[in-house]
Amino acid sequence: MRVILYGMVFLLTLVTGCANTASKQTHVTDASQGSQGVVLVAGATGRTGRLIVNALLQQGHSVRAFVRNPDKAANLFGDRVEIATGDVKDKASINKAMHGVQWVFSAIGSSGSKDPSNYPQYVDFEGTRNLAEAAAEAKVKQFIMVSSRSAGKKDHMLNKRFHNVLIWKLKGENALRGSGVPYTIVRPGGLRDQPGGQHKLVAFSPEHGQSKLRMVSRTDVAAVCVAALNNADAFNKTIALVSDPDLPAQPVDTIFKSIPVDQGQY
Ligand SMILES: NC(=O)c1ccc[n+]([C@@H]2O[C@H](COP(=O)([O-])OP(=O)(O)OC[C@H]3O[C@@H](n4cnc5c(N)ncnc54)[C@H](OP(=O)(O)O)[C@@H]3O)[C@@H](O)[C@H]2O)c1
Repeated sequence: MRVILYGMVFLLTLVTGCANTASKQTHVTDASQGSQGVVLVAGATGRTGRLIVNALLQQGHSVRAFVRNPDKAANLFGDRVEIATGDVKDKASINKAMHGVQWVFSAIGSSGSKDPSNYPQYVDFEGTRNLAEAAAEAKVKQFIMVSSRSAGKKDHMLNKRFHNVLIWKLKGENALRGSGVPYTIVRPGGLRDQPGGQHKLVAFSPEHGQSKLRMVSRTDVAAVCVAALNNADAFNKTIALVSDPDLPAQPVDTIFKSIPVDQGQY
């Protein structure tokens, strides 16, 4: 009787174990080979990046978070995303994370880093270039980058505070423009941690338009980035983005049409 009981327990353990392994494997396989493909989000643990991840998940995308700190990512997202640990300064770690990826978002930023090895030159420029090169090699369908409204402005006070961040950001943008990967560059004004969908978004081409408005909510920036995904009206465009607190919100995906396609590098 005892032998039969042990036998049953053994069989049960075997079956449950197989089922667990199978479900884990299915999870990985679904994420990397599903019909939609994987969306890689660099900077997923950042204040804008995490909102991009949540918006993507809400739309049913399979997300892989490319992060320096997997514990931070696990705390934010649980098991709703795959986690790829790496650093944008380390091209090999990016290449490893690119398996099955069809779209890349980047909301990385070095601003405020006290570590000289993580200054803007190495993150906002070289890190973005590493991501763009890896995306090109992986034949990614679109790369959506969060940059900065003032990218390229030499005499901006942020350059003094943050090791020429705006100059390096433009170089990062241009690396993406030159990569051959279809892209959308969103250049937000000052970022606020506020709910989205409350104010009119004012989007303009940095080369052809301007605005006196200064701020925009991170939630709106994330919504615009995700609305750019697979949106032909957003391809190869650079979109400066602020919001007007005196006017009501409009549908996010209507903002791309009026922006002209980039004519080369900035
Ligand atoms: N703050 C503003 O008002 C403002 C205005 C305009 C544009 N922007 C730009 O908008 C973007 C998003 O800003 P945010 O304030 O939401 O960002 P944030 O909270 O500062 O997040 C930055 C993200 O970049 C990641 N990161 C930094 N160095 C990295 C590296 N070497 N490898 C991989 N990941 C790295 C960080 O990872 P950890 O979590 O591990 O630190 C974090 O996830 C940035 O590009 C920023 O420059 C900001």
